[in-house]
Amino acid sequence: MTRLTILEYPDPRLRTRAVPVAQVDDTVRQLIDDMLETMYGAKGVGLAATQVNVHRRILVADVSEEKNAPLIFVNPQILTRDDVGTMQEGCLSVPGFFEDVDRAHQVRVRAQGRDGKAFEMDTEGLLAVCVQHEIDHLEGKLFVDYLSELKRTRIRKKLEKDQRQRGTDPVRSRGPAI
Ligand code: NI
Repeated sequence: MTRLTILEYPDPRLRTRAVPVAQVDDTVRQLIDDMLETMYGAKGVGLAATQVNVHRRILVADVSEEKNAPLIFVNPQILTRDDVGTMQEGCLSVPGFFEDVDRAHQVRVRAQGRDGKAFEMDTEGLLAVCVQHEIDHLEGKLFVDYLSELKRTRIRKKLEKDQRQRGTDPVRSRGPAI
């Protein structure tokens, strides 16, 4: 497995819309394994293929305490959303920033797994938020898009400065980054 490079905001490639996966073959499975390695290595709870510059509709997630329950969603679709609430979100592509976002906290999702078989799953809480956040990535959307222009600009300037200075370790200590 290979740890892949995660694109960081405001990289324009994060704005790419991902295309559906026609067939879950060995190439897709290799990418899934690399994405899991990358997500665990970065201490995230979710990762979209968009974030590693592969513009295909694939997500991975693991919201378990022990980090031993990987979930794979190929061509994910949200069927129903319920119970809107606020949760603090972070993102591996927006390192060091955590902000409140309103989202459904109960979501039913349909996707295909590692074996290509379709399944449906009821998700809630952090996982429900994660699925919506990651599907946004596949649409070229980031959680900062839900914030005020002022906040988004502040975050962009700080990250651009960090990216210029490289070598500074981003702070990721305030919550789960997805
Ligand atoms: Ni993210």
